[in-house]
Amino acid sequence: MAESITLQRQLENMRRDWDQRARENARHYVATGQTDWTDEEFFRSGELSVAGDILNDMENICRGKDPKQMRVLEIGCGAGRVTRALGRVFGEVHGVDVSGEMIERAKKAVADQPHVHVYQNNGYDLSVIPVGDFDFAYSFIVFQHIPSREIIENYVREVFRLLRPGALFKFQVQGNLKAASSPGETWLGVSYSEGQAKDMAHRCGFEPRYSHGAGDQYFWLWFFKKPVA
Ligand SMILES: C[S@@+](CC[C@H](N)C(=O)[O-])C[C@H]1O[C@@H](n2cnc3c(N)ncnc32)[C@H](O)[C@@H]1O
Repeated sequence: MAESITLQRQLENMRRDWDQRARENARHYVATGQTDWTDEEFFRSGELSVAGDILNDMENICRGKDPKQMRVLEIGCGAGRVTRALGRVFGEVHGVDVSGEMIERAKKAVADQPHVHVYQNNGYDLSVIPVGDFDFAYSFIVFQHIPSREIIENYVREVFRLLRPGALFKFQVQGNLKAASSPGETWLGVSYSEGQAKDMAHRCGFEPRYSHGAGDQYFWLWFFKKPVA
């Protein structure tokens, strides 16, 4: 029989486990490629993420806007690895994370960037974000750890609420359908097929314009908020 667990318990598990991982070795759990990271290496890896996911995709992301005039949202900002790099490109950056311990580290990472703001959230919605429309939203190696479709889809709906019409939510989910997640865990998240991802986009009001990596751990989705008719 499938394990049964309440949403509240899942959120508590995520906060507890990610706080524990942050205390143990935050940078390793954020980016598992190394056990020990120097500041330089860790933030350089964030720069590489931004170069690979964002700087080579500016047409979709900016749609003609000056990046320095753009307001950007990051879900699951962790210890600020990518957040800091986003702050070098965009005019205003807001990041959320379920773990207060991660957010403490992220605050230090962006301490010299007054236009970058990070918040601990409840692991479910974006009610902590100050009002105002966003021009772009991004999330990498976060949803792959979330064991609940309900939570992921709520984030997609929340991003839709905060984005300007026409704007892009570019994010990565677990696409390996053999990866078996269980509701009580917080490391291996639920996986999505191409069809499941498209259905989620439509249910939340997005146009799923592109995808890359279906079947792989790094399954990238480009969800555009439909422009006002
Ligand atoms: C592997 S780390 C990646 C951090 C960051 N995205 C990066 O690439 O450096 C995953 C992050 O997702 C956060 N996270 C996990 N579940 C979350 C949830 N439900 N809501 C918000 N953040 C969550 C964790 O606390 C952790 O900081």
